[in-house]
Amino acid sequence: MQKAYNAVDEFLAKYKNHKRDNLYSLFQKENNRLEAMSASFAGFYLDISKTAISHAAFADLLQLARQCSLQDKIAALFAGQRINETQNRSVLHMACRGGKDFLDSVDGEPISANVHSVLNRFLDFAEGVRKGNVKGVSGHLITDVVHIGIGGSDLGPRFVVDAMMSFQDGPTIHFASNVDPADLGRVLARLNPNSTFIIVASKTFTTQETMANALAARAWIVEALGEHAVEHHFVALSTNLEAVEKFGITEDRTFGFWDWVGGRYSVWSAIGLPVALAIGSKLFKDFLQGAKEMDDHFRNAAFEKNLPVMLALAGYWHRAVCGYSSRAVVPYARSLSLFTSWLQQLDMESNGKSIRLDGSPVQTETGPVVWGGAGTDSQHSFFQLLHQGTDIIPVEFILCAQTAASCLDEKRHSMLLANGLAQSQALMLGRTAAQAKQDMLDAGMTPDDAERLAPHRSFSGNRPSITLLLDSLTPRTLGGLMALYEHRVFVEGVLYGINSYDQWGVELGKVMAKTLLPLVDKGEAVSGLDPSTLQLASRLKEWRGSTA
Ligand code: F6P
Repeated sequence: MQKAYNAVDEFLAKYKNHKRDNLYSLFQKENNRLEAMSASFAGFYLDISKTAISHAAFADLLQLARQCSLQDKIAALFAGQRINETQNRSVLHMACRGGKDFLDSVDGEPISANVHSVLNRFLDFAEGVRKGNVKGVSGHLITDVVHIGIGGSDLGPRFVVDAMMSFQDGPTIHFASNVDPADLGRVLARLNPNSTFIIVASKTFTTQETMANALAARAWIVEALGEHAVEHHFVALSTNLEAVEKFGITEDRTFGFWDWVGGRYSVWSAIGLPVALAIGSKLFKDFLQGAKEMDDHFRNAAFEKNLPVMLALAGYWHRAVCGYSSRAVVPYARSLSLFTSWLQQLDMESNGKSIRLDGSPVQTETGPVVWGGAGTDSQHSFFQLLHQGTDIIPVEFILCAQTAASCLDEKRHSMLLANGLAQSQALMLGRTAAQAKQDMLDAGMTPDDAERLAPHRSFSGNRPSITLLLDSLTPRTLGGLMALYEHRVFVEGVLYGINSYDQWGVELGKVMAKTLLPLVDKGEAVSGLDPSTLQLASRLKEWRGSTA
């Protein structure tokens, strides 16, 4: 470990105070820059050339990855070694998309066989519902499914179902995650219990929000159809089979997974059931296959042409070398508009850490704030700051050459793509005050006004971005896209020296919420509170009056 830490220190010492080149000038200075700073694989094309990473810096980043034993770490990941050391777990969600020959067993536990048995069961169930063979307790066809889960048990399926809207031909899938009664309430208000199935998705089956919502949904079903309807209308996706049974969900409606599938990586497991219900088992398998292809690419491609590695090196450069505290991710596709929500948990829950694997504090900045939203809408909200704000925020553009919607109107799709390309170009090239002034004069403005407005209408440029192109947006490429970002997060974690697979940082707030509940709910005294929290809780209690 120490060798890797030293390599990082040396690398950062070399580049921290290094004068960075103007982005555009690198294209003039470096032969074959574009070729060296781009790579393609199976319908993906990644371009990291609009960053300040010079050829020499890229070579040093690649060398750093090797010094951090990245190849061995990738091998350990795929071999099922317990690389999630702080939870003593393997990280094997890739097994869910890995095909029959992925891994026979780890520590005596069958992997591929278990994965395939559950996969076949939940795909059969999905097909049964889709074909109308599995019905509600009173014989109604199932037209709606409510998926209750939170965090990784919600964001993955919610994103994929939304992204694959144009491939959907199954029941309508609804999502409720927030413990705010308004969330589930708004969903159930529109539905008929007779034709609705409820999925309770929770790895632990103990998460407060999910269990509270599941009980509320249970009461809704029982009130309308009677207690005996629970076993017909509820499905569980969980690793905690005992708790599922206690809730009253039968074994044949329970689809399990394993502790080596992390919550934020669980859409590939039974947690993907709503996706299979929406698009069918064939397309769900395509989704898994696309991710598997990206896994194989990640394991086998040379680092300099390896998409997850390149993306990670650029991300590490922006965070650890340049110190940029956030990254914006902007897909130019309406179907990918929930990508950032999914990615926020993936990236920030994985790499928002400040302690290294050996227990020592990190010596660099780690995971950035990840945010964004679909283009072109984002251009009309936060792009002002990206172009002229005082912070530099690297942007990751994702453009799809073809989508199901593009064939509806090629012209508007062209406008979408042209906008995406224009933004990355504008961020890099900018516009000088002199150019801005000249443009205004050419447009007929008075010299005084042109002079006055020139500083406001100029752009510093030299702002980095990365562009990822997809040849099409299908279940297969969507699987590949998500696996690409998953592996990118892993590689960045290796460079930071942290464990990307635990999430202890979410625990404290959960514990405190439980402590506060008696006070907020019933006004019961709770000891050890700080004056501010006590006053806020009392004020809420007072304002809620007799309703609480
Ligand atoms: O927010 C923390 C977390 O543990 C996530 O990692 C997880 O995805 C989410 O809660 C939900 O957990 P569960 O699936 O066990 O309900």
